[in-house]
Amino acid sequence: MDFNQKLEDRVKETESVIKAYLPVEDGWAKTVMEAMNYSVNAGGKRLRPMLMAETYRLFGGADQVIEPFMAAIEMIHTYSLVHDDLPAMDNDEYRRGRKTTWVVYGDAMAVLAGDGLLNYAFETALKSFEMPQRDCARCARALSILAKKAGIYGMIGGQTADIEAENLGDQVTQEQLLFIHANKTAALIQAAMMVGAVLAGASDAQVDLLEKAAYEIGVAFQIQDDILDVTSSLELLGKPVGSDAKNQKTTYVTLRGIEIASKEQQEMSSHAIELLESLKDDGFENAFLTELIRSLITRIK
Ligand code: IPE
Ligand code: IPE
Ligand code: MG
Ligand code: MG
Ligand code: MG
Repeated sequence: MDFNQKLEDRVKETESVIKAYLPVEDGWAKTVMEAMNYSVNAGGKRLRPMLMAETYRLFGGADQVIEPFMAAIEMIHTYSLVHDDLPAMDNDEYRRGRKTTWVVYGDAMAVLAGDGLLNYAFETALKSFEMPQRDCARCARALSILAKKAGIYGMIGGQTADIEAENLGDQVTQEQLLFIHANKTAALIQAAMMVGAVLAGASDAQVDLLEKAAYEIGVAFQIQDDILDVTSSLELLGKPVGSDAKNQKTTYVTLRGIEIASKEQQEMSSHAIELLESLKDDGFENAFLTELIRSLITRIK
């Protein structure tokens, strides 16, 4: 089966896992549940849960215990987008081809929907402890990775540095930008792959290797996001282009130019693939995962 057909199938499977864990919209707090589901159901590439499931498969994982974690990471990622789009942050009006949550539900409800998704992510991941096939020690370790990479030593830390670097122009150094990309974006990609590995019972050395590979995949992914913010269109991306320039962000494109930025993201991605392929010597291989990572370099949305 060709890669694109397989990708389509995997996205569909991932969506049904995510949907199964979304809250039922009822009761006096119904509005926040609607706003949460509005943003998750808007679509998106579902990259993080797919990377998680494929890394789980890479190490021989085959149980449903991965599913609450897949839903949880997509909830955390979606909350980060709902808050990222707020007027107080990037002030954007389109996301995943729809009006952003704050435009439809108002700022207050968008803040609460983001909070709701973050909390519900952990309520969901905790359901893994009730599953028949679970290994509690692995689930606890996976939860701790997810919590850390989403927080101040991960995504929230990166978003903080991103906001503080606005309007600083060429005062922003390469090192600072790398910190931003590594945390705001690579941290959740690391969480995805590390959780998949841990739940499948990978060794500490293998989890460390994945953390390194996912760092490069994540930074490369954000560099391509910076490039698309300049070269793409609202129709293709489902979110506005020119958002970074509007907010006076320093990006890989403003710092290094499109050509160098593009070359660097390709190099990082190739290096990540080399790291992953080194696992073949121990008999761990997932060709679809490798192709998925490779496809990110040339993605158009
Ligand atoms: C957008 O992430 C935010 C970044 C970290 C660049 P995605 O490009 O994965 O967004 P969706 O999930 O496909 O909407
Ligand atoms: C944000 O980066 C990454 C997050 C943690 C949400 P961007 O601000 O560049 O993401 P987009 O371009 O709005 O998706
Ligand atoms: Mg942002
Ligand atoms: Mg943004
Ligand atoms: Mg962007």
